[in-house]
Amino acid sequence: MNKPLLEVKHLVKKFNDNIVLNDINFAVNKSDVIVILGSSGCGKSTLLRCINGLEGTDEGEIIFGGKTINTPSTNWTLIRQKIGMVFQSYELFPHMNVIDNITLAPIKVEKRPKDEVLKDALILLERFNLSDKKDSMPRFLSGGQKQRVAIIRALCMNPEILLFDEVTASLDPEMAYEVSNVILELAKDGMTMIIVTHEMKFAQSIASQIIFLDNGVIAESALPNDFFNNPKSSRAKKFLSIFDVV
Ligand SMILES: Nc1ncnc2c1ncn2[C@@H]1O[C@H](COP(=O)(O)OP(=O)(O)OP(=O)(O)O)[C@@H](O)[C@H]1O
Ligand SMILES: [Mg+2]
Repeated sequence: MNKPLLEVKHLVKKFNDNIVLNDINFAVNKSDVIVILGSSGCGKSTLLRCINGLEGTDEGEIIFGGKTINTPSTNWTLIRQKIGMVFQSYELFPHMNVIDNITLAPIKVEKRPKDEVLKDALILLERFNLSDKKDSMPRFLSGGQKQRVAIIRALCMNPEILLFDEVTASLDPEMAYEVSNVILELAKDGMTMIIVTHEMKFAQSIASQIIFLDNGVIAESALPNDFFNNPKSSRAKKFLSIFDVV
């Protein structure tokens, strides 16, 4: 059996005395799509942010490619080339057009040849129907277009894992559908992903595994059909009833 691409072991995260993640354990294998569900404030974003080095951790290990990465000596700039993250708020650079937003990090951080990066960026823009927007500034794009550019920007780094934190949450249903389809396509291509979402249908259709967080602990970890059709914990049942899923 191959080693997992990413392993989270006994992870604890506190904000002062507030324990927001408590003994979190899970493994991510290549091409897994882990969907993290749970009520507001249960620790979903914090977990992704710990994996991406945007938050420090208090106990436990995050192991990526066989190496522990939650250490003081970790070069997070390097790790973030391999573990990309896409946020609800896009985080595009407002003063740069689409193509510059996408190519900046591969050229400046990864030091890849400009021609090669540009070629990759144009292929991705074409694939996600955004070729005509390549010279546009972000403020002239719709929310759905901005989010697709943010996903392309992350993809252009050739990451090994992508983390998505509620990337459709601020979009109207039609745009959310467009963006969800992009992520579904990535899953079909075998992209390894950890996705935080409140869209239950999307979660069910894309997940290889559901992790249900409740108040900082993993209350359930299950295959999507089991989780949605037969949730075990009363917390998961209650959570799903809000979405009219069970
Ligand atoms: N920078 C911070 N300082 C102090 N407490 C924080 C900080 N960030 C998050 N928290 C707390 O940690 C807990 C988990 O927050 P987190 O943002 O991870 O929740 P979430 O599951 O992503 O919620 P939502 O679904 O609303 O996005 C919450 O109680 C929150 O108040
Ligand atoms: Mg969050």
